[in-house]
Amino acid sequence: MTDPAAPSTDTVQTKSMDDIMALCKRRGFIFQASEIYGGIQGFWDYGPLGAQLKKNLRDAWWNDVVMLGCNGQNGPDGKPVRIVPVDSCIIQNPKVWEASGHVAGFNDPMVDCRETKSRYRADHLMCIGEKGDKEGQIYAYIENDDASYAAARKKLDKYKKRTLTDDEIDTCPLTDLSVDELKITVGPDAKEVGTLTEPRAFNLMFDTIPGPIRNEDNKAYLRPETAQGIFINFKNVVDTTRVSVPFGIAQTGKAFRNEVTPRNFTFRSREFEQMEIEFFCHPDDARAWYAFWRDWRMQWWQELGLAGDNLIMREHDTDELAHYAKEGAGTADVEYRFPFTAPGYGELEGIAHRTDFDLKQHQQHSKKKMEYFDPSRGEIAKNGQPKGEWYLPHVIEPSAGLDRGVLALICEAYTPDPDRASGVFMKFHPRISPIKAAVFPLVKKDGMPEKADELRRTLVKKFGHLGAIEFDEKQSIGKRYARMDEAGCPFCFTIDGDTLNDGTVTVRDRDTQEQSRIPMEEVPAFLAEKLGL
Ligand code: GAP
Repeated sequence: MTDPAAPSTDTVQTKSMDDIMALCKRRGFIFQASEIYGGIQGFWDYGPLGAQLKKNLRDAWWNDVVMLGCNGQNGPDGKPVRIVPVDSCIIQNPKVWEASGHVAGFNDPMVDCRETKSRYRADHLMCIGEKGDKEGQIYAYIENDDASYAAARKKLDKYKKRTLTDDEIDTCPLTDLSVDELKITVGPDAKEVGTLTEPRAFNLMFDTIPGPIRNEDNKAYLRPETAQGIFINFKNVVDTTRVSVPFGIAQTGKAFRNEVTPRNFTFRSREFEQMEIEFFCHPDDARAWYAFWRDWRMQWWQELGLAGDNLIMREHDTDELAHYAKEGAGTADVEYRFPFTAPGYGELEGIAHRTDFDLKQHQQHSKKKMEYFDPSRGEIAKNGQPKGEWYLPHVIEPSAGLDRGVLALICEAYTPDPDRASGVFMKFHPRISPIKAAVFPLVKKDGMPEKADELRRTLVKKFGHLGAIEFDEKQSIGKRYARMDEAGCPFCFTIDGDTLNDGTVTVRDRDTQEQSRIPMEEVPAFLAEKLGL
C-alpha cells in the first residue's frame, strides 16, 4: 500500500467502504465466513452474485491468458505467446517450501501487546509524531485511518517522555526503531501505552499434518502461493508437451497465509485465490518480456472496467525489490485506489522478473536438473546449424489476486445515485457482471409471463454459461429494475402489451436508465454485441 502512514485525506475516492460492504451482504456478493457462529477473522464466503462475479473474472483471465495466449497478440519475439495450464496440489512435500525460501524467510515482523495479548504486524505500527511537535514525541498507531490516529494521539497526550530528533521522527515503521528505546507505543485496544513488545519474526505459512501420525517430522504446509506448484512441474511440462522456451505456465487456485492482521474486507485475507503465470524465457530476453507483461497486464485490467485514475502501474524502487528480483529487470505493481487506501493505492497484481532464482533453488534442493536445452541457440557448427545451449530460463511472473480483483471491480462498480429507487447501482462491465440480463413480464397476465419465459429460455441457451438470466414477475416494474441495478445487471427486457401486438420488447439500460424498443427476435444479437461476443 502506498504511504500507509498518512492519515486518510481522501478527496478523490469518496465511496464509503461501509456502504459497499453493506451492499455486498444485502445482495449476496460476500458474507463473513462462519457468520452464524460469529465469523472467523480473515475468511470470507462468496454468495450467489459474488461467486458468479468471481468465476467471471477467473474465466476472463483464463480465456485471455491461457486460451488466447494474451488475446492472440504476438510477443516481443514477433511470435504468438504460448501459455499452458497446470493444476497443482495445495499441499506439497515440505521440501518445496524449504527450497523456495518460505520456511526460512516468509515472515512478518510482529509485536505482541502485553496488556491485551493481541498480536500486530510491526510494519503497520506507524510513527505519528510530527516534525515541529512541541515536545517532538514519537508515537505509534495501528491502521491507516483518521479514527485510530486520533485515538492514539489522545491516549498519548499524557505520556510525553522524551524529545526525539527530527531524524527519528522521520522514520516511520516501528521495525526501524527499538521499542525499548522508544517506550512509547500504542496498541489499538490497550488502555496503557508502551505495552508492545520488540518485533519478532512470525512465519505466515499454515501447517498441517497429513496422515495419522501426528508428529513434527510429518509437518506439511498449505501453499502460500500457487507459483511453486508451477516451478516444480517445469520439467514435467517441458518433457510432456511440445512447448519450447519462451512459454508460460498458468495456474489459478487457493493460497493460504496466516496474515497477522487480516483487514480491509477481503483485501488481506488468510485464504484467497491467485491467478499466476510463470513465463520462462532466455535470460537475454527477460527485459523485453518483462516490459511486455507489465504493459499487457495493466491494459487487461483497464479493459475490464478499472480504467481512469483509480488504477496505476507502479515500478518498485530498488530497495523494495524481493531478493529474487534484485538482479533482474524489476518489479511493478498494478495498484487500485480502494476506498480504504485512498488517497493511496493497494496492490492488485505484481509483475516480477524472478530471474532463475526458483528453478535454481529447486535444482539444488531436489538434485534434479532443471536446465533447458534450446536447440536454436549456441555456437554455429560446421554444418551451419546452432549447436544448442543448456541454460536455466529466467522467469517473468505476473501474479494477480482474484479476490482483490473482485473487490476492486466491486468498489469501481459501486455508483451512488440518489435519483434512482435503489439509491445505488453497480456499474460492472457487461463481460464480468454476474447477471447478464433480466426478463420481466410487465404484469402477470394476458400471456405476458409465457412470452417472457420464451425469451428467457432463448437467452439461457445462448448466454446462461456466462452468467445468470434473471426472470422475475413479482412486484412493480420499478422495484424489479431497482433490484437489478443493485446486482449490476446491464440490461432488462420487459414484455408488455405492445409485445403481444407488434413483437417488440422494452430494453432498459442500467447505466443511463434509458428505455427503447427492439424486436424480441433481435434480443440475442443485441445482447451478444453488448457482451462483446
Ligand atoms: N507468487 C508471487 C506472489 O505470491 P504476492 O505479491 O505475495 O506475490 C500476489 O501475491 C497477489 O496475491 C497480490 O498482488 C494480491 O493480489 C494477492 N494477495 C497476496 N496476499 C493476499 C492476501 N492476504 N489476501 C488477498 N490477496 C492477497
